[in-house]
Amino acid sequence: GKQEPAPSAASAAASAPPAPVVKTYTVGTDAAYAPFEFQNEKGEIVGFSMELLTAVAKKAGFEVKFVNTPWEGIFNSLAQGDRDLLISSITITDERKQTMDFSDPYFDAVQLIAIKDGAKITKFDDLKKLKVGVQTGTTGDEVVSKLQGKTATTIKRFESTPLALKELEAGGVDAVVADNGVVIHYVANNPSAQFKTVADASFTPEQYGIAVKKGNAELLALINKGLAEIKADGSYAALYKKTFGT
Ligand code: ARG
Repeated sequence: GKQEPAPSAASAAASAPPAPVVKTYTVGTDAAYAPFEFQNEKGEIVGFSMELLTAVAKKAGFEVKFVNTPWEGIFNSLAQGDRDLLISSITITDERKQTMDFSDPYFDAVQLIAIKDGAKITKFDDLKKLKVGVQTGTTGDEVVSKLQGKTATTIKRFESTPLALKELEAGGVDAVVADNGVVIHYVANNPSAQFKTVADASFTPEQYGIAVKKGNAELLALINKGLAEIKADGSYAALYKKTFGT
């Protein structure tokens, strides 16, 4: 074939069609939530959520930059525009829907109780009159707060779920109520803590969603498109299996 002479940098820039602008969105996540979002030894934010969103972004044609954002300020960071979206194992609730918009659900979860191996606790109701640890402002906090309304349960609130679980190990609380995936991961990876888990049928099913600022329909549509594509082409299932083994 005919060889074109290599264009000089200047003429290439002048003649090339404008490159499509790939937007980079700033993503807030509370990266203390293994295996969903956490920091590796190098301090990089990694986990199921990061791999999921990166795959979604690739399909939808945008890029992402993850920023560690404490859970307590995470919804505010979205409302104020400091973050474009949030992926942080956020349960979609009617209350939260009033202040932000959620993608289609991407993960099913439920609360789970963590206790010390020898503890005589077999159901949620057994936690009344005990000290229960939760992460502030999570659905676990909401669930235990309901119990507190009826009984003398003492709630100890922590900035992160691992801190609550450490306090259980130290004996400062009798139980921790948190999302099943995180509790199961912690129990499996900290055998010296000697924890066991207790499920309770009264806990309602939860679903995680990716959050955008209320009214950001454009970004939401892109996210939902990417999500649908990774579900359809099997990459979601492969990631799920890689992370959770099933
Ligand atoms: N799913 C729970 C909720 O939405 C807990 C999420 C906590 N996430 C985190 N990265 N700390 O309230």
